[in-house]
Amino acid sequence: MSQASLLIVILAAGMGVRMRSRRAKALHGIAGRSLLGHALAAAKVVGAQDIAVVVGPDMAAVRAEALAQAPGVALFEQATQSGTADAVLAAAPALERHAGDVLVLFVDTPLIEASTLRRLLAALEQANIAVLGFEPDDPTGYGRLLLDADGHVAAIREHKDATADERAQRLCNAGAMAFRVPSLTGLLGRVRNDNASGEYYLTDAITLGRSDGLLAAPVVCAPEEALGINTREQLATAEAIFQRRARTKAMREGVTMIAPDTVWLSYDTALGRDVSIEPNVFFGPGVTVEDGAQILANSHFVGARIGAGARVGPFARLRPGANVGPDVHIGNFVEVKNASLEAGAKANHLAYIGDGRVGAGANIGAGTIFCNYDGFNKHFTDVGKGAFIGSNAALVAPVKIGDGAYVGAGSVIARNVEAEALAIVRASQQVRPGWASKFRALMQSRKKKA
Ligand code: UD1
Ligand code: CA
Repeated sequence: MSQASLLIVILAAGMGVRMRSRRAKALHGIAGRSLLGHALAAAKVVGAQDIAVVVGPDMAAVRAEALAQAPGVALFEQATQSGTADAVLAAAPALERHAGDVLVLFVDTPLIEASTLRRLLAALEQANIAVLGFEPDDPTGYGRLLLDADGHVAAIREHKDATADERAQRLCNAGAMAFRVPSLTGLLGRVRNDNASGEYYLTDAITLGRSDGLLAAPVVCAPEEALGINTREQLATAEAIFQRRARTKAMREGVTMIAPDTVWLSYDTALGRDVSIEPNVFFGPGVTVEDGAQILANSHFVGARIGAGARVGPFARLRPGANVGPDVHIGNFVEVKNASLEAGAKANHLAYIGDGRVGAGANIGAGTIFCNYDGFNKHFTDVGKGAFIGSNAALVAPVKIGDGAYVGAGSVIARNVEAEALAIVRASQQVRPGWASKFRALMQSRKKKA
């Protein structure tokens, strides 16, 4: 394995015209993370000392995303999108102050495994340039790797520039390329744009290097790793591949899914052992599910923690800051936002629990609403341990219900309730015996007269 220090250059200056989007391609995402976020994560896993991101002009949002995902990353602007070699050269200051290996990654190939990138870097022990290759089912649009008799890469021919014979070559350029050369800026500075696109191709570094006696080795990976995202269909294909991988990994680690194809995971979903997940569950970013929790069908989670042994759903919604403790039950049509439910608490039906705490073992009745918002500010509701909130109660925050207290069904609670008390806010019930039959008789006599 290479000991040389590593600079990773991520190319993200292309708008991605084929996406037909107002947003730069780097900001489109899979599994809840932008393509740029995936590339930066890969760069960190592989262990880059330095990371440079090349962006286009007017890409403030791409710059912001890069800094959010990897603070301290070096950003470079490519003035005009005149090709991948020109894009790498935009990072010339980073290349010139760096004396080790360089790995170039395209932002639009997010599925390349870290182990593959390590193999690519390891190939620099035997070659000056290592090119990631793959054999796609449909090679249209990819550059072809043209190998010499020794199995080295003699040239990479872009699809547009290739002859029929060259197009018949199955091995394609995945885009990731590693360099251990005396001067990458020197090499790329000699690339010309006399090709079908009029662009400066990074891939021309192979032929130019060869004339200097530099050897290029192909390193082959699985086709699905190398999928390049140029269109929305390819984005959806990449998403599907990511999801299949993530589900397989979860199941291998001890998660049960009875219909895995219907479970959508985020890049960072953390699932404990013996978690079971029913069909049609969506995990947005930032969700952790601890051991043995049961997730019932049709639930939606973002930014939430689900404690060990908890049972959540069907049709539950956990929003950011939902902290569901161990053995808690959250039932159908219950929404939790920025609120904790401590061990063993229950909210089994139809409730909104926002900006609050529900103490251990407390019971939240059907239809209970935490009235957290007055139109201007959010306020906190605190329900003590073992408290019992009757059905259809409205808890008007800020309000505190003491440990073990009862709240009568239908109450609107706007003042604190002390521990072990009963609070009930309800008009008293009137019962008038025989009223119904008298009422009916009166109505029927009026009808006859009419
Ligand atoms: C490129 C390769 C092709 C390979 C394929 C793999 C070249 C010339 N072609 O083609 O051999 O099979 O990827 O997916 O390298 N970019 C810039 N500035 C530019 C142009 C591109 O930053 O001026 C960035 C893009 O944002 C993108 C990457 O470079 O992340 C690749 O550019 P793209 O236009 O998608 O190249 P392909 O036509 O897919
Ligand atoms: Ca591409």
